Amino acid sequence: MKFPHDFLFGAASAAYQLEGAWNEDGKGMSNWDEFVRIPGKTFEGTTGDVAVDHYHRYREDVRLMAEMGLESYRFSISWPRIFPDGGGQVNQKGLDFYNNLIDECLKYGIVPFVTLYHWDLPLALEKQGGWHNKATIDAFVHYAEVCFNAFGDRVKHFITFNEMIMFCGNGYLTGAHPPGITNDPKKYFQVTHNVFVAHARAVLAYKRLKQFGEIGITHVFNPAFAVDNHEDNLFAARHANEFDTYWYYDPVLKGHYPEYVLQQLQKSGLTPDWDPQELADLQAAAPQNDFIGLNYYQPMRVEKLHEVQQPIEHSRETSTLAPGKASFDNVYRTVKMADKIYTKWDWEISPEGFLDGLLMLQARYGNVKIYITENGLGDEDPIIEGEICDIPRINYIKTHLIALQHAIEKGLNVKGYYAWSVIDLLSWLNGYKKQYGFIYVDHNDNLARRKKASFYWYQHVIATRGAELQNQ
Ligand code: NOJ
Repeated sequence: MKFPHDFLFGAASAAYQLEGAWNEDGKGMSNWDEFVRIPGKTFEGTTGDVAVDHYHRYREDVRLMAEMGLESYRFSISWPRIFPDGGGQVNQKGLDFYNNLIDECLKYGIVPFVTLYHWDLPLALEKQGGWHNKATIDAFVHYAEVCFNAFGDRVKHFITFNEMIMFCGNGYLTGAHPPGITNDPKKYFQVTHNVFVAHARAVLAYKRLKQFGEIGITHVFNPAFAVDNHEDNLFAARHANEFDTYWYYDPVLKGHYPEYVLQQLQKSGLTPDWDPQELADLQAAAPQNDFIGLNYYQPMRVEKLHEVQQPIEHSRETSTLAPGKASFDNVYRTVKMADKIYTKWDWEISPEGFLDGLLMLQARYGNVKIYITENGLGDEDPIIEGEICDIPRINYIKTHLIALQHAIEKGLNVKGYYAWSVIDLLSWLNGYKKQYGFIYVDHNDNLARRKKASFYWYQHVIATRGAELQNQ
């Protein structure tokens, strides 16, 4: 099957993970610039100060993307580059950088797909309570409007937030991300609500400007499946989906929170503070939301947690939260299963879970437009006779693209696929051990770029629009 002509083949990145230039050209400090300097927070104390120096090498990087045949590039804007203090004076050099990057993409016909918030909050705002402080909602909407006005003539696809569950959950439950608060479910749910209001108001602001592009939000998508058909485990999987998936997509697509989670929160005294205007804005924005983005890496295999058992803690960098954490009450745990295949980092490889998860969303949200905004394999790539032979990555992406073909045949409205990542990046907590890119960055040779086997493979997939995937 060929992917439709309007389907975008892309790849993605995030500002903090590749730009570097952390204190150049007027950029302010972000919460991450501070957090990574706290001893013990990241593997070997790595920071994004230089990252892969994309800020200075973006022309070379975009040229490589063009050579690969990339149709669209998803990148994020660093808020503290635009507003060093979170608000107030705009930093013109920050706007210049993104204007140049966008123009460079367009020069090659690459469609820019822009994320406004991929976790780097201006430190000044974090110091005033970050996302727990409702003033951050207004600051975000103002920042978003400035971006729409500055870039919206050429950028026709905006994502407000990337993976809320990660920065809210790790910020306020596990403590693995800034502001590093642990086990505070009251704050966690409040913060998620505040971010939903920020999303809704940014959507409404975008629509008022009539730029005739599209706007949506991206969540990590870890569909939960019960380990077996025992009713306890089936219940646990439903519970996990309610807290990890429906809590995140319902307010965006339906304009209100899922009833089941609301009941649980009420029983536990965890209902967020909201005012009627906020709830009205969620409702008003829902029909204006143009698409949802899904970052899919793996499903969750879930079983009911019984009193004698302990939740299992995952490795530090997970695509999901530490199991059971998002539901605050340890109802379930995720488990590794003997008949499944895992990466070196214990992430399950499951294209079937991808397809089944998409069908689960179709059942709940109908024909909503979907972009797969991240999907890929983190690995330590083998170098054989000087060539970067990332065959496992090719297999991973191939099988997931085939699953996507089946999903489209079953009527899912998927309009694009963005591999994570376009180039090897800094992992938030894991340094450079784990690579995802089509382009290798040699940290022993002045960050030189080298094409991997997957670079040529993806180039062919794009050129043939996926027609040969099922025969490979
Ligand atoms: C999702 C995040 O958006 C991205 O920043 C991260 O590096 C990848 N997952 C891989 O963990």
